[in-house]
Amino acid sequence: MEAATWSWAGFLVLTFLAGAVLYWLLVISEGTFLGASVVALMYNWVARRYDSLKQFDADCEELFLRQPMLRELRDRPNAWVLDVATGTGRVPWVLSLPGGFGGRIVGLDSSREMLCVAAEKDWASAERRPLFIWQNAMVLPFADERFDLVSSLEAMEFMPRPEQVLEEMVRVTRSGGALVLTRRRGWAARLMLGKGWSKERLLAELFRLGLESSRVVRWQMDYDLVWARKPERTKGGIDLDPKAELMASIFCPKCREVVLVPEVGGLHCDGCHRRYRVATDGVVELARPV
Ligand SMILES: C[S@@+](CC[C@H](N)C(=O)[O-])C[C@H]1O[C@@H](n2cnc3c(N)ncnc32)[C@H](O)[C@@H]1O
Repeated sequence: MEAATWSWAGFLVLTFLAGAVLYWLLVISEGTFLGASVVALMYNWVARRYDSLKQFDADCEELFLRQPMLRELRDRPNAWVLDVATGTGRVPWVLSLPGGFGGRIVGLDSSREMLCVAAEKDWASAERRPLFIWQNAMVLPFADERFDLVSSLEAMEFMPRPEQVLEEMVRVTRSGGALVLTRRRGWAARLMLGKGWSKERLLAELFRLGLESSRVVRWQMDYDLVWARKPERTKGGIDLDPKAELMASIFCPKCREVVLVPEVGGLHCDGCHRRYRVATDGVVELARPV
């Protein structure tokens, strides 16, 4: 074969390989190996099509998410729920369907566009409307033991340090409260090259963090649901004001110790003097101080 033919063949092979690597980096692993901002960018791009791509099945959502969550919260009529990496508000949506849940919901995500879609949905009433927060899950801007249920679905594999996110989720769960998250499984997990945890690894992490009654439930083709409980404390601990307002319970994600003070158009921190906007769609924009 002539040299020119060889160089064309080489060029085509290299182009194919580069395309395959790019496809894997951007589409299959959704930017997770390129950092949190690339993941947010990828979800910003897909946000408007996300719900139609996913086509959530209402019966499955009821059976696997809403009913078990309501069971976990049955003794807590004013429960607070935090959905980490809420996307377009899947968990807030199933919980806010009529009947059953009378508490408050916070949905947090690092993609502003996913939150735009969530915020635009037709939430039944102003009181039932979830509070959406634009923020990376590596720092959850709430006091310890604040929530009765903390969830994170189809998201842990996209976090830069999932161990840290899990620690944060456990920190903000009240004693006796429940956690639910997902574990990627099957060939989809293998393509994430070590980003997904094995069942044993995940159960060991939950045990290390002091959780009990952990159980893995087969859910979707490429995800298991994992439920766990934070043990009831025997003495001491934090007493929460059941009438507290969600908006007045947000901590500064930078100082972490200081509750943000509501002001016209946003929130400000008395510690570091950062200001955060509450956008016209109601989303609290912690990810980008003004
Ligand atoms: C596959 S979607 C799942 C959304 C929703 N939980 C659901 O089940 O439909 C993954 C979500 O994780 C969010 N995400 C990824 N990394 C994040 C991070 N570090 N902090 C907060 N959200 C993150 C993405 O923006 C995206 O909305």
